[in-house]
Amino acid sequence: MAGEFVARSLEETRFWSRIMKEHSLFLRLGFRCEDTQLINEANQFYSIFEAIENRANAFTLGTDPSVIRRFNEEVHNAVSHIWAFKRKVLGLILSCKLPGGNNFPLLVDHVSREANYFRNRLEDLNMGRMEPLPDAIIDENVFFLRIMADHAKFISHLLDPSERSLVEQANNFSEEFDSLLFQARELDFMRPQSQTVPLLDQFLDQNRVSVKSLRDFKKTARDLIEACRIKSIIHPLLADHVFREAEHFLVIIDLFEASLTGQSAG
Ligand SMILES: [Fe+2]
Ligand SMILES: [Fe+2]
Repeated sequence: MAGEFVARSLEETRFWSRIMKEHSLFLRLGFRCEDTQLINEANQFYSIFEAIENRANAFTLGTDPSVIRRFNEEVHNAVSHIWAFKRKVLGLILSCKLPGGNNFPLLVDHVSREANYFRNRLEDLNMGRMEPLPDAIIDENVFFLRIMADHAKFISHLLDPSERSLVEQANNFSEEFDSLLFQARELDFMRPQSQTVPLLDQFLDQNRVSVKSLRDFKKTARDLIEACRIKSIIHPLLADHVFREAEHFLVIIDLFEASLTGQSAG
């Protein structure tokens, strides 16, 4: 039990602290040169999450659970701060205080939702809270399908308009994931009657197929951007970042599938 707490804490903090570090970089790149205060704040968050990431990587499965518990609290505090920073930036953009900046409001909202998700995971871990499996399946999928739908929109809007076929593919993914998200919400509203093993299993299967093909599209886009073979204003690290988030979602889907199948067999 304590071993599982350490393992799960390290998995979450290793994955998400790198993500938070990269968000700081993306936000910084989208600020105007004169926004020196915001640039400094973003740089500070970059260093904070880089240090957290290094510490998370240095811990082992043998680390004392009480040390990990304190570390999770510390990370939780840093994540609350970056969440507030992201919401502040969103407010500045939406009130037209940063004209000419290059951060889309939806992107800033998106990265704040990811911070909020990470913060909730840390609270769940430290409080030993575990959502019942049928609820977790629906909630996590609703969260991640929206994340995937947003990614497709960012890719479509950051590709050069002359990359017509890639833009079209990204737009198709955007529609596909919007519709999967609608379906997930419908399953959500039909709770608890909708939470049967066959329905949840089919839900996971269907989402997995789409996430795999989006993941492959992101991988191709990342490779093309790295090789400078396509025209875009997508930072290569952003391309890799959204690819890793799709991989993470696939891992979660597979874990759910395994628990669901184990449960139905038992
Ligand atoms: Fe992200
Ligand atoms: Fe994301």
